[in-house]
Amino acid sequence: MPDLHLVVLAAGKGTRMKSRLPKVLHEVGGLPLIEHVLRTADAIAPSTTVIVIGHEAAAITERLSKRLGLLFALQDPQLGTGHALLQTEPLLKDRSGTVVLLSGDVPLLRSATLRTLVDHHRRTRAAATVVTAVMEDPAGYGRIVRANGSISAIVEHKDASPAEREISEINSGIYAFDLPPLFGALRKIGSQNAQGEYYLPDLVRVFRDMGLAVETFQVDDPTEIAGVNSRGELAEVGAVVRNARNDELMAAGVTIVDPATTWIGPDVAVGADTVIHPNVQLEGRTRIGSGCVIHSGVRIVDSEIGSRVAINNHCVITESRVRDGARIGPFAHIRPASDVGPDAHIGNFVELKKTTMGRGAKANHLAYLGDATIGERVNVGAGTITCNYDGVAKHPTVIEDGAFIGSDSQLIAPVRIGRGAYVAAGSSITDDVPPEALAIARGKQVNKEGWTRKKK
Ligand code: UD1
Ligand code: CA
Repeated sequence: MPDLHLVVLAAGKGTRMKSRLPKVLHEVGGLPLIEHVLRTADAIAPSTTVIVIGHEAAAITERLSKRLGLLFALQDPQLGTGHALLQTEPLLKDRSGTVVLLSGDVPLLRSATLRTLVDHHRRTRAAATVVTAVMEDPAGYGRIVRANGSISAIVEHKDASPAEREISEINSGIYAFDLPPLFGALRKIGSQNAQGEYYLPDLVRVFRDMGLAVETFQVDDPTEIAGVNSRGELAEVGAVVRNARNDELMAAGVTIVDPATTWIGPDVAVGADTVIHPNVQLEGRTRIGSGCVIHSGVRIVDSEIGSRVAINNHCVITESRVRDGARIGPFAHIRPASDVGPDAHIGNFVELKKTTMGRGAKANHLAYLGDATIGERVNVGAGTITCNYDGVAKHPTVIEDGAFIGSDSQLIAPVRIGRGAYVAAGSSITDDVPPEALAIARGKQVNKEGWTRKKK
């Protein structure tokens, strides 16, 4: 939208979080609070976006470095929300139109609400429009004081009289402002209050004294404007984000057996008729096909899982691919850059790292396969280890189609096992094995007849 400028306040310390991390970088649903706010604001396509930073400013700019076109205003020291907005003056003073102000710690706001706010504000031609909500427990929030129905002031909880604390309509901390009178009015705000801060909500009084109109816009669902000020509230808001995501996926045909313990990130895709059992985490850019079963205790990060894949209990899969019909786990660890082929089986206590398994290949028990390219229908026996690291560098192992690796073998890389070859159980393979050969590389067995009797 032209002439629409967004300001996000994110300079505060977040004292009540008791954290070294700035509050707006704490995560819900796998994304920092401020990223939720920015995604919501994307829907109104502001022509300018200014983020006010101060406490741990570098951590915030670093975390948002992938977002293009952001402007930052530094607030140092942090003297309150009114003072915070004043710091954007050099960036906004030559522009015209509307400023929408959001708090970096209010992540559940919906885009539709923001659009309605802008429409309402522009239609009424107010100097300011305050988003409000009626809260069952308004403690901690600024209260909306009304005279003859219209807003006359906002009183912070700490400054409120017992009668004012009875007011259940609260300030969401979300506003729209008309740009021309804004900065002049902000300079009129004082800091004579319980916290000795320049309160942005005092603008209501200032505008009214200037004879300018202040409007309110009430949201129906107060959860939308819940702020995160403590770890308890972080968990509550996290649960709302989790439930919303789970509801979306269930509506699209995914079975989630226990939504209360299922955590699926906002950028994860899951196909219809996939069944997700309790205690599963799906994170990052993970994509899962249809008709899969994902059992309890599984964590999948930034991975692509095909269709009809079974992932048994307690597997961890990171930055990898698992193709249609494959079966993984229980207790498998698929580390980055691995690719498990169609209908392949990876069984219990098998670790893959940077390893490709061909169609129908199997490693069913107790193996470490690293930097390996494994062909179709290969059978990797229990206890097989690719010795890929010589203490200095990593080396590749290639196992061609149809080969059979006997149990408890070590493949000392770099090494190649030819197509259809056999490695005898218990071998330490140091040299390439030609196609269709049998390699035996272990001590020869000697039986000493009657040995026990003689010893006694
Ligand atoms: C604020 C409002 C309150 C409202 C509530 C809604 C004020 C004074 N009070 O209270 O009326 O009900 O939000 O959630 O505005 N910040 C800065 N610089 C500062 C101080 C704060 O950038 O100097 C930022 C914080 O990082 C945060 C936001 O402003 O993102 C709100 O600050 P916070 O201290 O959480 O205000 P509340 O006490 O929640
Ligand atoms: Ca807050």
